[in-house]
Amino acid sequence: MEALRLILRYAHLIGFALLLGGAIAQFVSGKLRINPAMLWGAIIQVLTGVALSAPLRGGGDDEPSPVKLAVKLVIAIMIFVMVFIPRKRAEVNRGHFLGIIALTLVNAAVATFWH
Ligand code: HEM
Repeated sequence: MEALRLILRYAHLIGFALLLGGAIAQFVSGKLRINPAMLWGAIIQVLTGVALSAPLRGGGDDEPSPVKLAVKLVIAIMIFVMVFIPRKRAEVNRGHFLGIIALTLVNAAVATFWH
């Protein structure tokens, strides 16, 4: 169980790197389009996040709060929709793109600071 949790967490961190890294690389290039790294990152985050929500720590008191997980799921689905719908557009609005980056940072903050 512990090995499974660590493998899922590892994949979750790679998904985070793809989503945030893909978005930042695009942002500094000045062309605000959705790239495949962002799309795959958003998909991986929802899938690995849901898998990590299983009681992988033995179901004791140190499991993450269900409220925290629900908040993360809602934010991750918002990011996925924001990445998936305009994925074929040449460019998206600056506000939309910054929204994706901000929501990604919010979810990482929720993961880190909400205990
Ligand atoms: C864009 C979406 C997401 C981002 C950026 C994100 C980010 C992170 C980060 C940075 C960590 C910390 C990993 C560590 O400390 O090693 C983490 C852990 C975790 N995330 Fe997410 N996450 C996202 C989506 C989700 C979703 C949708 C869920 C579940 C509904 C979820 C559930 C978890 C759980 C359970 C952990 C703890 C893993 C563990 O240590 O056992 N995440 N997430």
